[in-house]
Amino acid sequence: MALNLARPHIVPPAAGSRAESDAHTGSRPRRPARILVVDDEPHVRTMIASALERQGYDVQLASSGREGLETLERNAFDLVLTDIVMQDGNGITLLERIHGQQPQLPVVMVTAIHDISVAIDSMRRGAYDYLLKPFEREHLVNTVQRALDHRQALQDSHNYQQNLEQVVRARTEMLRQAMENLEHSYDVTLEALGDALDLKDSETEGHSKRVTAYTIALARAMGIGPAQIKVIARGAFLHDIGKMAIPDEILREHCARGYNMLRKIPFLAESAEIVYAHQEHYDGSGYPNASCGTEIPIGARIFAVADTLDAITSDRPYRKARSFDAAREEILRCSGSQFDPTVVEVFLKVPNELWHELRSEITGQNKRFSTFDIAPVPDPSDI
Ligand SMILES: [Fe+2]
Repeated sequence: MALNLARPHIVPPAAGSRAESDAHTGSRPRRPARILVVDDEPHVRTMIASALERQGYDVQLASSGREGLETLERNAFDLVLTDIVMQDGNGITLLERIHGQQPQLPVVMVTAIHDISVAIDSMRRGAYDYLLKPFEREHLVNTVQRALDHRQALQDSHNYQQNLEQVVRARTEMLRQAMENLEHSYDVTLEALGDALDLKDSETEGHSKRVTAYTIALARAMGIGPAQIKVIARGAFLHDIGKMAIPDEILREHCARGYNMLRKIPFLAESAEIVYAHQEHYDGSGYPNASCGTEIPIGARIFAVADTLDAITSDRPYRKARSFDAAREEILRCSGSQFDPTVVEVFLKVPNELWHELRSEITGQNKRFSTFDIAPVPDPSDI
C-alpha cells in the first residue's frame, strides 16, 4: 500500500525535507492527498473544494451518499468530508459503510449547528472529527490537515509493524539455520571423537555406535522425550572417552576422566553426568561412587542395559558372541542388582528383531549411520 500523503504546498519546510529524503532513498515521489467531498448543496461543495484545492489537495466531489460510495469504489482516497443530512439519506450511513470497508480512512462530518448531538454521535461511530457550518476556511484547512496527519500516523505505524514482523521472521529463520548448522557440527565432532576411541580399542570396533543405537531405542521405549534422548545418546556414545587419557591399569578412573573431559564443553555438560555414572550398579555395587537406585541418572541406567546387551552379543578375544536371547536371560538375571528393574521390564518387551536390525545397520556399514539421528530408530511399539 502506498503512502498516500503529500502536502507540498502546505508546509514548505517539511515538504522540502521530505522531497530531499525521497531523493536520497530513491522512493516514489508522494502524490497530493486525495479528498472526497460529499454534500448535496452545490455551493458548499464548491466552497470546500476551492479552499482545499488552493492547498494543493486533489479533490473530488459527490452530491449524494450513493454517489459518494460509487466514487469510493472506483478510487482510493485519503480522507472523506461528508455532510450529515442529505436528501437521499444521511452521512451516518455513509460513515458506517466506509468504516466497515476501510477502517483506516478518516471521515470528517460536516453539519449545521443544530445537528451537534448527531455530530458527536457520529464520532462515537468512528468519525475522526466534525465541522460545524458555517466554518472559516482556516478551520476547514486545519481540520483536514489534522485528519490527514492522523491517517499518516496510522499508516506509518502499520508499515513499521509489518516491516518489524518481516525482520523478525527473517532473523528467526537465520537463527534456526545457524542452530541447525551448529547441531550438525556438534555431531560431526562427536563422530570424530568416537572414531578416535574405536582406533584405541579396536577389539570393540563399532561398540560406541551400537550401544548408542540400543540406548536410544530403549530410551524411546521408556517414553523419554527427544531433547533428553539427545543428551543421553551423546553420553552413551562417549561413555568410554576417559579411556583415551589413562593406561589400562587404572581403568576404574576412566569414568571421572571422561566426565572431566566433557563437563567443560557446554553442549556435552549434561551428557558428562551419564559418562560419570555409566559403571554404577542399581544396587550400589558399581563405581566410581557406589551410587544406587535413582541416584544414578536415568540415562546411565538405560545405558547399562544397552552396554551389556552389546557386550554379550559381540565377539571378544576370549569368547564368541552369544545370542540376543542369551543376553535377555543375563539381563533379567541381573535385574535389581546391576540393572534398574523398570528399565529391564521395558527392555524385555522389545523384540530381538529390533536389536538385530540396529546391529546389522551399524556393523554392515551398508549406509552411513548417524548415531545421533534419532528419528530412524524404530519404536518398539510399532513392531
Ligand atoms: Fe566404561
